[in-house]
Amino acid sequence: MIYPIVKFGDPVLEKPAATVTDFDDELRKLADDMFESMYAAHGVGLAAPQIGISKRIAVIDVTFKEDPNAKIVLVNPEIVHTEGRISSNEGCLSLPEFREKVTRPKRVTARAQDLHGKTIEVSGEELLARALLHETDHLNGKLYIHHVSALKRDLIKRKIRKLMKQGEW
Ligand code: NI
Repeated sequence: MIYPIVKFGDPVLEKPAATVTDFDDELRKLADDMFESMYAAHGVGLAAPQIGISKRIAVIDVTFKEDPNAKIVLVNPEIVHTEGRISSNEGCLSLPEFREKVTRPKRVTARAQDLHGKTIEVSGEELLARALLHETDHLNGKLYIHHVSALKRDLIKRKIRKLMKQGEW
């Protein structure tokens, strides 16, 4: 099932999501639906709050279907190691049309659980590192615009308010 993507302005995006405790068929169905919804929206990462479900689960595929082994599901993730710094343009399906340069660690390790509740560690650099950080942020109620200057953030928010008034958001 393809879910519509929740956009900035919906409070679900700015509150910490609930820890997942049931590793059942329902969770596996949710992960499948999240991949389907992410691909339909042309994204490489998606967190459950972005489809209106406030649970700590995110999916990532930085190859966008090229490599089936690149599909990652993170349940209850936390970032346990970061290294280096790199600036790159970043976007988010919940903030369509906007992109900003964001400085983040270059190499990252996340610890999470898989769909069966087993503890896993995922390490990545550059785009994958960025995705691990970006999606884990979502589960903590944080968006990438929290990492840009207050000036830029306010400008983005103003533009969004204008789009909302025009019924285009
Ligand atoms: Ni995002």
